[in-house]
Amino acid sequence: MAEWKKVGVVGCGLMGSGIVEVAARSGFDVVVREATRELLDKGLGKVKKSMDTGVEKGKLKPEERDAASRRIRGTLDLGDFRDCDVVIEAITEDPKAKREVHAALDAIVKPEAVFASNTSSISITEMATATKRPERFIGLHFFNPVPVMKLLEIVRGLRTSDETVALSKAFGEKLGKVSILAKDTPGFIVNRLLVPYLLSAIRAYEQGLGTKEDIDRGMTLGCAHPMGPLTLSDFVGLDTALFIADVMFDEYRTPEYAAPPLLRRMVAAGFTGRKSGRGFYDWSSGQPK
Ligand code: CAA
Repeated sequence: MAEWKKVGVVGCGLMGSGIVEVAARSGFDVVVREATRELLDKGLGKVKKSMDTGVEKGKLKPEERDAASRRIRGTLDLGDFRDCDVVIEAITEDPKAKREVHAALDAIVKPEAVFASNTSSISITEMATATKRPERFIGLHFFNPVPVMKLLEIVRGLRTSDETVALSKAFGEKLGKVSILAKDTPGFIVNRLLVPYLLSAIRAYEQGLGTKEDIDRGMTLGCAHPMGPLTLSDFVGLDTALFIADVMFDEYRTPEYAAPPLLRRMVAAGFTGRKSGRGFYDWSSGQPK
């Protein structure tokens, strides 16, 4: 079983940039691809800013940051993934776009490499059919903020091989993450539990059970959650939460996964949470108000 040395990451948004940072800091050579120069510069800027903060806070030595930075290469060309040992796709939750990326990569990347998706809800088994390597296709679901959250949810598709699972576990360990193994069912383990909870909180707010602040306080102070459910929904992204809920409702058809009307309307209005500056809270300063 060959050890992974070079990691490819497709997409350098919120999740992709976090994966790039964690992999480079763990000693992997990383190549990351974005669709445009502007998006790539923005994504690499996020990685740099996060590592600079790490240095300021004394969590990272300047020479460690510099060595990690040297291991990261940005590109606009999927051709640069040719000799990667694993390629992690972290683009937007669009099944068609994901299939296209995996099919394109399949023709480029060395056949023994593993393909992974950071999807939070789309079927791994189905996505793998875009490639000729379904036994080397797996879900590697990271959590936001990637450098902080300890969990790696490994999702095994119906055709994923034992070797791919073992390599993925070893990779997670090298990244300093604790992994859990989930079946390829909608929402996997974490979102299967988290999303109905977030939807319940939105429903509670919609029905006037309490103010948003009190609903959040109930869970932060009453249950020691780091964020209340409405703040967390904004943090995850209301569009992302809605997308996951719709995927789960489509398959299970049970009420706990049905998106509350308020959530759908907020997304339609462009109030997607922290990333757009407005969700349940005003995030224009970077903090919920
Ligand atoms: N990168 C690196 N470090 C970060 C960071 C980032 N983006 N954001 C916060 N941190 C670090 C801070 O530097 C700080 O470190 P120190 O304590 O050593 O100084 C620590 O994390 C705590 O941060 P803050 O003091 O700024 O604020 P906080 O105590 O409120 O913590 C938080 C912030 C870690 C985000 C915390 O609120 C939290 O854990 N929230 C819940 C996050 C969560 O549930 N994420 C999962 C979402 S679900 C998902 O991602 C999957 C999906 O499919 C939907």
